[in-house]
Amino acid sequence: MNSLDGFAGDKLAALERAQLRRMPAFTTRTGIWAERDGRRLLSFSCNDYLNFSQHPETVAAAIAAVKRYGVGAGASRLVTGNHPLYDELETRLARLKGSDAACVFGSGYLANTGIIPAVVGPDDLILVDELAHACIHAGAKLSGAQVHLYRHCDSSHAETLLAEHRAGKKRALIATDGVFSMDGDIAPLAALSELARRFDAWLLSDDAHGLGVVSGGRGSAFVNGAARSPFDVPLQAGTLSKAIGAYGGYLCASQSVIDLMRTRARTFIYSTGLPPAIVAAAIAALDLIERDPAYAAEPLRKARLFTRALNLPEAQSAIVPVIVGDAGAALAASDILRDNGFLVIAIRPPTVPTGTARLRFAFTARHEDGDIVRLAEIVRQQILRR
Ligand SMILES: Cc1ncc(COP(=O)(O)O)c(C=O)c1O
Repeated sequence: MNSLDGFAGDKLAALERAQLRRMPAFTTRTGIWAERDGRRLLSFSCNDYLNFSQHPETVAAAIAAVKRYGVGAGASRLVTGNHPLYDELETRLARLKGSDAACVFGSGYLANTGIIPAVVGPDDLILVDELAHACIHAGAKLSGAQVHLYRHCDSSHAETLLAEHRAGKKRALIATDGVFSMDGDIAPLAALSELARRFDAWLLSDDAHGLGVVSGGRGSAFVNGAARSPFDVPLQAGTLSKAIGAYGGYLCASQSVIDLMRTRARTFIYSTGLPPAIVAAAIAALDLIERDPAYAAEPLRKARLFTRALNLPEAQSAIVPVIVGDAGAALAASDILRDNGFLVIAIRPPTVPTGTARLRFAFTARHEDGDIVRLAEIVRQQILRR
């Protein structure tokens, strides 16, 4: 009989040799600062792009909700976990995204793994951007549909694959990140939406890193007029755990699609509702974005300050990758920044393709311009010149 511990130990040793073993480090965040291993570091590794996770209004809303509704939802939403705050959050999300309705899931990961199998199945076709988030790939696999990957952001390749494989399949879905989580670039949504129309397919965009950050906070479907109407991107998914600073995932879509999710998406049906405090905090964050869209433009402005200082392609979102190659080099680069007082986590395979390990810089509204310029200078002198 195989020993389970033996299996785990061998696997871990192999990962260690390839510098791919990961371990969560205890981190205490205070605003843009992170304390770990007794050191206080300026963090560029947090997706809290608007710093709302610790904003006085989101915190106050969460506390008030705990006092009113308690800590946990107590059951799935179809049982008794559907506390009244959900209605307000879903109405607000739909308004921001210009859709009829919205449905909130337990997380962004749960959203995609629920949405995709609810709209396509074994007789169907899915085209996925090769660099889409792991949860889109997982949702595609779970659906049982025939999956084809198209080259990153290459709508011509997506068109070739549709021309080859669309016939004979009942339904077709094109699924992509809106803003790519490890690259920071934006999907060609207008071109994909046009392809979807021509090939009778549906388009799903996961705007986890666009909501609250691009197009006045409305997200990537609104860049370059891609969503002239909500029907251009009929499945607008995302998460409440990045710029919104809370937790949970969502889908904004037509009323009938949302009704279908509520009755068929397995991750909606078979998982407990979100804690009321989290939902209340997300509502407060949406309020803040609506009241001050100029603030929502700040993370992108900061990211562009960084790309200009380093002569990199202009940032399209709050995320800027600096690709260094192998996993060891990425870890060494991260250590150099740590020794200079910055926290920038090395991103290694399988999160990114082999040979493209990188530093992933995430900019937030509250980073100081002077610190960004100093960071860029250190990257130029100690990382890019090596
Ligand atoms: C593009 C994308 N989709 C989904 C997720 C998952 O979201 P969540 O953390 O809410 O599960 C992430 C974040 O990790 C992401 O980057």
